[in-house]
Amino acid sequence: MSTQTLQPTAPAPRTFGAPVLEASGVVMRFGGLTAVNDVNLTVREGEIMGLIGPNGAGKTTFFNCLTGMYKPTEGEVKFLGTVLPPKPRSVVKAGMARTFQNIRLFGNMTALENVMVGRYCRTNAMALTSIIRGPKYRREEAESRRIAQEWLDFVGLGHTSEHLARNLPYGDQRRLEIARALATDPRLILLDEPTAGMNPKETEQAKDLIFRIRDKGLAVVVIEHDMRFIFSLCDRVHCLVRGETLIEGSPQEVQSDHRVIEAYIGQPDEDEEEMVAEAHAQDEAAPSTPAATDGRMKEDRA
Ligand SMILES: Nc1ncnc2c1ncn2[C@@H]1O[C@H](COP(=O)(O)OP(=O)(O)OP(=O)(O)O)[C@@H](O)[C@H]1O
Ligand SMILES: [Mg+2]
Repeated sequence: MSTQTLQPTAPAPRTFGAPVLEASGVVMRFGGLTAVNDVNLTVREGEIMGLIGPNGAGKTTFFNCLTGMYKPTEGEVKFLGTVLPPKPRSVVKAGMARTFQNIRLFGNMTALENVMVGRYCRTNAMALTSIIRGPKYRREEAESRRIAQEWLDFVGLGHTSEHLARNLPYGDQRRLEIARALATDPRLILLDEPTAGMNPKETEQAKDLIFRIRDKGLAVVVIEHDMRFIFSLCDRVHCLVRGETLIEGSPQEVQSDHRVIEAYIGQPDEDEEEMVAEAHAQDEAAPSTPAATDGRMKEDRA
């Protein structure tokens, strides 16, 4: 890979608010396998944090520890200064929302209904009121519908409100998941590979969407394998390798750290080093051309 593929459009240095998320010493073991080992991560208000690392590095497992899907074997996760019970529902109610690496939508429900599901943690209607369907229930449902439509519009899917989720193109399903997460009124949103399966135009739109989410005052943590996307989007980048932190820093610091590149493509042997040096010499001799790859540093997986 040429270093050219990693050149970022450096975001201007920005200042951030108070810490929203503080994970310290997080360890997650599955039997003999330590998937996450002593990871610390602080994310501040208005910050976009990238979480990168090769396949199996522990990124999704770490998200699961942050969002109450797993109780970490060791360590602590504080959200807005409080350690939350390790239950996804409590975590969502506290203001942390997420999307999934493998899309989890209700395929036979419409796009609007999927987003309305996100509102349920913010409504007061109890089981009994929803059975009786009295005026309070109807008011809340109308309000949920209005807010859900606003979030659909926000992610650019306003025109699909009556479409069944399973009939939407893949890229739209990913945006629908983001709309559902936003409908829970989060302070922090965690996105697990939001551009997987997207074409370059959709990926650009996803980047713009994440900036707009940040501009609403949310903190964002985003897992991605597309390095060009990550380095042009994030304020800071945290790299995990085999469950451990390799480096955390600005996009410039992380992308110029040779250990990050080695972690993805392995350490070159002597022959490869010669080939790389030769390729660089040719690169320097030739006029620069746009990168041929889409910047993804990942095996393609279904
Ligand atoms: N529930 C589980 N039980 C046992 N092992 C697990 C479990 N979940 C994850 N693992 C293992 O933990 C390690 C980290 O997996 P994880 O899915 O977190 O990686 P990742 O960084 O998200 O990878 P990818 O980029 O491929 O999505 C892997 O070795 C995986 O097999
Ligand atoms: Mg993963």
